[in-house]
Amino acid sequence: MQATEQSAVLEDAKLAATRIFGLISPELKLVEEEFARQARSNVQVIEYLGDYLRASGGKRVRPALTILSNYAVGGDGSRYNSIRMATVMEFLHTATLVHDDIIDSADTRRNRPTVNALYGNETAVLMGDWLYMSAFETSLAERSLSILDILTRVTRKMTEGELLQLTTLGRTDLYEEQYLDIIQRKTAYLFSACCEVGAILGGASEAEQRALADYGMNLGTAFQLTDDLLDFTSTDDMLGKGAGVDLLGGKVTLPLIYLMASDPATREMVQTVITEQGYESVSRRELLEGVGRVGALERARTRADEYAAAARSALDTLPQSEHCESLRAIPTYVLDRDR
Ligand code: IPE
Ligand code: IPE
Ligand code: MG
Ligand code: MG
Repeated sequence: MQATEQSAVLEDAKLAATRIFGLISPELKLVEEEFARQARSNVQVIEYLGDYLRASGGKRVRPALTILSNYAVGGDGSRYNSIRMATVMEFLHTATLVHDDIIDSADTRRNRPTVNALYGNETAVLMGDWLYMSAFETSLAERSLSILDILTRVTRKMTEGELLQLTTLGRTDLYEEQYLDIIQRKTAYLFSACCEVGAILGGASEAEQRALADYGMNLGTAFQLTDDLLDFTSTDDMLGKGAGVDLLGGKVTLPLIYLMASDPATREMVQTVITEQGYESVSRRELLEGVGRVGALERARTRADEYAAAARSALDTLPQSEHCESLRAIPTYVLDRDR
């Protein structure tokens, strides 16, 4: 893509972001306050780490999905139960990040040292557990079995996704279907759950709940596909976390699956990076050129576009509203974001 084209795309993403997050900025502010409240503890180290994680920011896509879904089915997303559950969803997400950074041996996230880098894996495991359990404890206040059902299932799915991924690390013979299965479990189910919980709290009909769950699933898949693309094309500074690290940890993502399928000779190059756990004999630029040359990046991007389109069309059955329009703008933001 030309530089001018690229900046136009980023402008579109920014416009989409303003439309999405601007519409519910008072609610998202309440989520920040609620996060601080839920992270309160009389155990000093938890209090400190909870605040560290909250203050590190993040895009807050998941609570936005809960609140927008709530409004989109006619609910009042500013009510306390909606804010509380939107925060629970961000807590669950934060827990997965804290654990994921241990698994990936990541030292930077959101431009700050990770909990594991600062305090070691032991502390990070326990902090992640605390976040998970606090999220469940808070959600009990809803007295809703269907919400608990969704939360327990999504937590299991995410764990399955990370475990399945571990079993495929270093494998250059991964199929697209296996890859998609992993990213749906580790990322897309949570997006889907965020939408479904918002829908339930907003008093959705069964059909509306299903539509939003379907929207979230497709959106979440597009989200992780894009995260995996950004790992190739972006930089540490831009992402606030390591770029180019997926393959170093043995994670073979869709662009590489496409690269090796269209040019089997590149398998050796991919294998070398995995074995050396670094871009020594093969540089990051060479790899990027490879995926560019055979159109593997564009093909992976097309897959993400297809999921984004499926997400948008899942919304077609919902009543027209500005919140629904915001939900419709999220796929654009997700695909064209720069971090
Ligand atoms: C990172 O999620 C983990 C993935 C599922 C790729 P986000 O990109 O939403 O992370 P933050 O919350 O904005 O930092
Ligand atoms: C997403 O995968 C992990 C979670 C669902 C927590 P990644 O490992 O690619 O996420 P990042 O890139 O570390 O944020
Ligand atoms: Mg990771
Ligand atoms: Mg990633």
